[in-house]
Amino acid sequence: MLSIHTKHIQSPVPQVKTSLPGPRASALIKRDSVVSSPSYTRGYPLVAARGEGCMIEDVDGNVFLDFTSGVAVTATGHAHPQVVQAIQNQAANLLHISGTDFYYEPMVKLAESLAVRAPFPESVDSRARVCFTNSGAESVEGALKLARYYTKRSRIISFLGAFHGRTYGAMSLTGSKRVQRQGFGPLLPGVTHIPYGTHASLDDLEQKLFSTVIPPEEVAAIVVEPIQGEGGYIVPEDGFLARIRQICSRHGILMIVDEIQSGMGRTGKLFAIQHWDVMPDIITLAKGIASGLPLGAILSRAELMTWPPGSHAATFGGNPVACAAANVTLELLEAELIDNARQMGEVLQVALTKLAHGFDRVSLPRGKGLMMAIDLLDGDGNLDPDLRNRIVDGAFYKGLLLIGCGKAAIRFCPPLIVDRKQIDVALEILTELFEEI
Ligand SMILES: Cc1ncc(COP(=O)(O)O)c(C=O)c1O
Repeated sequence: MLSIHTKHIQSPVPQVKTSLPGPRASALIKRDSVVSSPSYTRGYPLVAARGEGCMIEDVDGNVFLDFTSGVAVTATGHAHPQVVQAIQNQAANLLHISGTDFYYEPMVKLAESLAVRAPFPESVDSRARVCFTNSGAESVEGALKLARYYTKRSRIISFLGAFHGRTYGAMSLTGSKRVQRQGFGPLLPGVTHIPYGTHASLDDLEQKLFSTVIPPEEVAAIVVEPIQGEGGYIVPEDGFLARIRQICSRHGILMIVDEIQSGMGRTGKLFAIQHWDVMPDIITLAKGIASGLPLGAILSRAELMTWPPGSHAATFGGNPVACAAANVTLELLEAELIDNARQMGEVLQVALTKLAHGFDRVSLPRGKGLMMAIDLLDGDGNLDPDLRNRIVDGAFYKGLLLIGCGKAAIRFCPPLIVDRKQIDVALEILTELFEEI
């Protein structure tokens, strides 16, 4: 018999009762400090004990409003009851058997659901095939392998500011922060990074690089985030993604769209690329797909997935419990959460615009849906990373969880269930902080 003990978070609003970190949090951070990898980037001392909806309770009973979603992951909110139920049911029935070697329904169901929704051109048999992974980086690795295998070409074009993960292939595409690459070379050869988001960059690619150092017939793929995530929630110029599509089609290059952060409804559409009506060849997914369980997926146009049995798979990729969580996540997204992301995105944009008008150290917001950011500026209007860090830390001490991105941006990526009241509370805290500063 299952016996699940849960204690609900008592406060619907942030409530900081102890000094931070509190006594239990301090003790745990001390233990962590001698055993955990120093490569983790903990900004402020949150020690989470429980999550419910948009709220997180720490080990000392302090309650926080979470505008990070555990780095854009908990799409349906923390511990959505239907997701938890699906996980419990699946765990009680089949925890693991490995989809690489055997079959089970939750994995087939999820592959079917993703395949019919993938924004690929119609074709006779099936529009898409799906290969499951455990993480974002692993989805990118697989997509790279697939592109090289199918095209029999080796070069890859990626973008400055891009973040695709930390394994070797993914890291080689990443162009976000020096620390993510420094000391780890040699990386994958044949990767060229070009500036993101502008037509000028694509002019250079076509007019200079293709005719000098990068023969386009040697390029397997252009890998692009529809909205750059870690790089600063940068929205590309109109026509940028459509032009990449044209360049790819002209030269037989595959267009890989990394929707690991921007996908699963966060921007107000299931896939962010759908805002621009562009059809890629391959899509990588992870983060929000299973509301917090580790799962990723590579979606490709059906005819591209010609790699033979044994050429690519992972023991845990498409784990039954993760797939069960993902199947319910997708239902919840389509029932109302994608719409909510769009509507609350508009509310957030209006609120952040008001904030920017009230304080000259805050830029106007950018982004789509609940993938939105502001830059923090110094007195001369230059990006001010120190101020950003102070605001992110200061928000924590007032009960609001935020994280940065880019050089001096704060990203707003709350769970897609966020409501108007919670956006008001977040903005009240931010306004208070700017008034104090
Ligand atoms: C766009 C994008 N791609 C890939 C990744 C890597 O995902 P993971 O950390 O699951 O390996 C991230 C993570 O932030 C991401 O934002």
